[in-house]
Amino acid sequence: MKNAQKLLVPVLETLGVRGYVAPARWAARAAEEVATVDNTHRAPGGVIDVPSRLLMGPGPANAHPRILAAQCLPLLGHMHPPFLKIMDDLSEGLRYTFQTKSKYTLMVSGTGHAGMEAAIANLVEPGDKVVVGNAGIWGERVGVLARRYQADVVEIKVPAGQTFSYEALKQTLTEHKPAVLFLCQGESSTGTHQSLAGLGELCRQTGTLLLVDTVCSLGGVPLFADQWGVDCIYSGSQKCLSGPPGASPFFMSERAMEKLQRRKTPPATYNLDMNLIGDYWGWFGKRSYHHTAPVSTFYAMREALALVAEEGLEAMWARHQELHHRLWDGLRGLGLKPFVEKDEDRLITVNTIKVPEGVDWAALVKNAMDTYSLEIAGGLGPTAGKIWRVGIMGFNAKPQNVDLVLDAFKDGLKRQGKL
Ligand SMILES: Cc1ncc(COP(=O)(O)O)c(C=O)c1O
Repeated sequence: MKNAQKLLVPVLETLGVRGYVAPARWAARAAEEVATVDNTHRAPGGVIDVPSRLLMGPGPANAHPRILAAQCLPLLGHMHPPFLKIMDDLSEGLRYTFQTKSKYTLMVSGTGHAGMEAAIANLVEPGDKVVVGNAGIWGERVGVLARRYQADVVEIKVPAGQTFSYEALKQTLTEHKPAVLFLCQGESSTGTHQSLAGLGELCRQTGTLLLVDTVCSLGGVPLFADQWGVDCIYSGSQKCLSGPPGASPFFMSERAMEKLQRRKTPPATYNLDMNLIGDYWGWFGKRSYHHTAPVSTFYAMREALALVAEEGLEAMWARHQELHHRLWDGLRGLGLKPFVEKDEDRLITVNTIKVPEGVDWAALVKNAMDTYSLEIAGGLGPTAGKIWRVGIMGFNAKPQNVDLVLDAFKDGLKRQGKL
C-alpha cells in the first residue's frame, strides 16, 4: 500500500491530481511485486542418481529395456489420432492378455489401487451386498474400500496361507446372493493362488458379478476371463507385465456393463467413472476428453503387451512355472519350507518362504541388498516377520536371477551360522 502510494502520488501530482490514495487492488498488486523468492525448500539440482537393483520382491519387478525405451519417445497429445490408435492397441492387447472378446478393456490411469477403486466404485451401488474373500491384505483392503462406497460387506476369511474352497464359496453365494463376489487370484501377502474354477457359473445362478484382483498374477498364471465367467478384473503393470507402475489393466464383461448402465445413481467418483473413461477409450462409439492419459506410461504398456503377444501366453505361463520349480528345488536344498502348505494353493509368481526358528529374516534381506544389490522382501500384514517373499515375475523370470536369489539365501543363512 505504502509503496504504491509512494510511486503513484508524485506522478499524479505532476498531472495536477492531489491527495490521491491508491485503491486496495493496486496496493495488493504492488505488494506482490515486492515479494521475494524463498529459497529454503528447493529441489536438488543435477542429474538424478538411481542405483541398479534386481527387484525380486513382490513388485515392482524390473521393467524390460524395450518398455523403458518406449517411455523416452516424444509425447503426443492425448487426443491425437496416433495416440488414440495406441489406446486401441492397448485395448486389443488386453483382450488377449485377459482372454476376452469383451469390448470393455482399458488401462486405468493409475496403479493397481486405481483399478481396485474403479471396480468397486462402478460395480457397487450404495446398499449392495458384496462378499469379500479375505485371504490376506488385498481382500481386507477391498472390504474397506467397498464400505466407503456404502456396500453392505460380508467378509469371509481363511487363515493366511489358505484359499477358499469351491464348496465354501457356493454356500456363501447361495446364502447371501450378493451383487458382487471379490476374490484375489494371486494374494501377494501370503503367496496363495485362488482357483476360480466353476465360480463364474455359480455367480450367474445367484445374480452375482465376479470381481478378481490379478495384480500379481496376470501374465504369470493362466486366466480365461470369458471361459471362466469373470465379470471384472483389475491388474498391475509393474509385475508380470514388466512395465513401470502407473497403469492398471482393466476389464468388464457385458453383464458388468449392464449393471453399470442400470445404476440409479452415477458412481461416486468422477475420476474413475467407467461411463466417462469408456467414452475416452471409444467404448461407446465416440471419443471425448475425460483426463490427460499418462502418455509415456501408455507407450510403455503398448510395448509390454506387444512383448506378451510375441512370447505368447502359454509360453509365459510355462516360463513362470519352470522358474518357480527351479527356485523351490534350490530353497528345499537349503532346508527352507514353503509357507503355503498345499501345492495347488501356491502362487508361482510370489513365493512365500517360512523363516526358520532362530533366523533373523531382516538381516538376510539386508545382506541380499548390501552384497548382491538384490531385493527380496519380508512378509506383509498377517505374514509380517514370519516369511520371506520372492517374486519371479515378467522380465525378471530368468534362471540366472533365480540362481542369484538362491546364492543370497545360502550366503545369508551361512552368515547366521544356519548352514
Ligand atoms: C495382489 C495385489 N493387489 C493390489 C495391489 C496394489 O497395487 P498397486 O501397489 O500397484 O496400487 C498389489 C500391490 O502389490 C497386489 O500385490
